[in-house]
Amino acid sequence: MTQDELKKMVGDLAATYVKDGMVVGLGTGSTVKFMVDALGRRVAEEGLKIIGVPTSDRTAEQGRQLGIPIKSIDEVAQIDLTIDGADQIDTDFQGIKGGGAAHLFEKIVAINSKRNMWIVDQSKMAPQLGSFPLPLEVIPYGSQQLFKRLAANGLKPAFRENAGQRVLTDSKNYVIDLHLGKIDDVFQLARYLNQQVGIVEHGLFLNVVNTVIVGYADGPKVLDAPERPDYRAIKA
Ligand code: 5RP
Repeated sequence: MTQDELKKMVGDLAATYVKDGMVVGLGTGSTVKFMVDALGRRVAEEGLKIIGVPTSDRTAEQGRQLGIPIKSIDEVAQIDLTIDGADQIDTDFQGIKGGGAAHLFEKIVAINSKRNMWIVDQSKMAPQLGSFPLPLEVIPYGSQQLFKRLAANGLKPAFRENAGQRVLTDSKNYVIDLHLGKIDDVFQLARYLNQQVGIVEHGLFLNVVNTVIVGYADGPKVLDAPERPDYRAIKA
């Protein structure tokens, strides 16, 4: 099977988890594109009634074209289920996202969702995170100084570019990728990154996912993550 066939397989399966009346967070990326196509078919053929909350302009446009009613995150009371892709998932169900430069909106939608599902082909599963470069969304103002600080800390930063131009997110920020190779303590790194002024959000998604669907050549596997402490219950 090709990688695209694996992505379509998990995308189609994930779409079957969506029930009538749900508010559904719609992730971003090539795997999610298959899932949104499948949802569009269910809306057209079965009359499935849902509201989609997209995590990028790309996904919003696709959803609208397929006739999926789209609302922004602040227009809905809650999100029942978010289905998104991922760039790397370790054996503890921690993930790296942001390969498509959408991790800021993806994280906001994820932490406001009752359940989170990730859909990936088998190449995304890894014993340890870090061989996929860790994306940071950064404010352009002062980003060169931030870059120097990250480099001085040995984090091997690189501004993401496309055809010689810095990539801009939907919020018109830059992306810096950290070429770490491996991350020994994801929680410690997340704490460090959370403290750096100018980083709007990093691509470590820790204790976020509930269910992962992995596409293998012999079929999809549905994996349930352990229950985690509810970060929404943390008091100020
Ligand atoms: C976008 C993301 C995507 O979910 C991630 O990059 C996976 O994309 P794809 O399904 O195309 O491999 O985090 O910011």
